[in-house]
Amino acid sequence: MKTPFLFYRCDGLPGGDAGLHLPPDYSWQLWAPEGGGLAPGGLPLLPFGIWTVMHHLRLFANGDYGVLVVYHAGRVVHRSGLFPRYARFPFMAREDLQVGDVWTHPEHRNRGLASFALQELVGAKARRGRRVWYVVDGGNAPSIRTVEKSGFVLIGTGARTKRLGLALLGQFVMASGHRPG
Ligand SMILES: CC(C)(COP(=O)(O)OP(=O)(O)OC[C@H]1O[C@@H](n2cnc3c(N)ncnc32)[C@H](O)[C@@H]1OP(=O)(O)O)[C@@H](O)C(=O)NCCC(=O)NCCS
Repeated sequence: MKTPFLFYRCDGLPGGDAGLHLPPDYSWQLWAPEGGGLAPGGLPLLPFGIWTVMHHLRLFANGDYGVLVVYHAGRVVHRSGLFPRYARFPFMAREDLQVGDVWTHPEHRNRGLASFALQELVGAKARRGRRVWYVVDGGNAPSIRTVEKSGFVLIGTGARTKRLGLALLGQFVMASGHRPG
């Protein structure tokens, strides 16, 4: 049977910084479409250019689409997307954000890159009345460990639906909720 998706949320305000730093040979940027270009340096236009076009067409519920990118020796070794609500994530409120499309290069895993990205994204974007979400497959132990140690709380479980037989056109639907303790 397919594992459910887990819906995590962080309601913290900036100031909850865990004090994480990248090792000295890494650099990073929080890229936003306003800086120009379709995608951050080193990332492909598919899907990142599509997200940027969606941003410019105002298909996202707010203007905070962005990508945190970590570089090492001139190449991308981590990325975390920051997405406002759109059709695929109906459980979000207008001002909410979701950290998604999170990936660390296999040779650079378990060095704190994803945890650093979550810390910086929450620190830069959290504010009163805004929730930051993270949706993860219940079988993805490294991702669950990362989001839990970053202070996110499990809010509910659910599934990814399909439309016209395609997951790409489906939605993440929360089926059962938990009260954060
Ligand atoms: C999930 C992912 C982004 C984490 O990136 P990362 O840069 O390695 O994350 P961090 O180093 O900040 O934290 C990883 C944590 O997971 C732990 N971990 C690694 N493998 C694990 C496993 N099999 N079971 C449990 N915990 C595990 C690490 O020990 C570390 O925790 P610690 O600091 O307490 O030791 C990375 O594994 C990845 O790119 N996976 C493939 C894509 C993916 O699944 N993306 C997430 C989609 S929601």
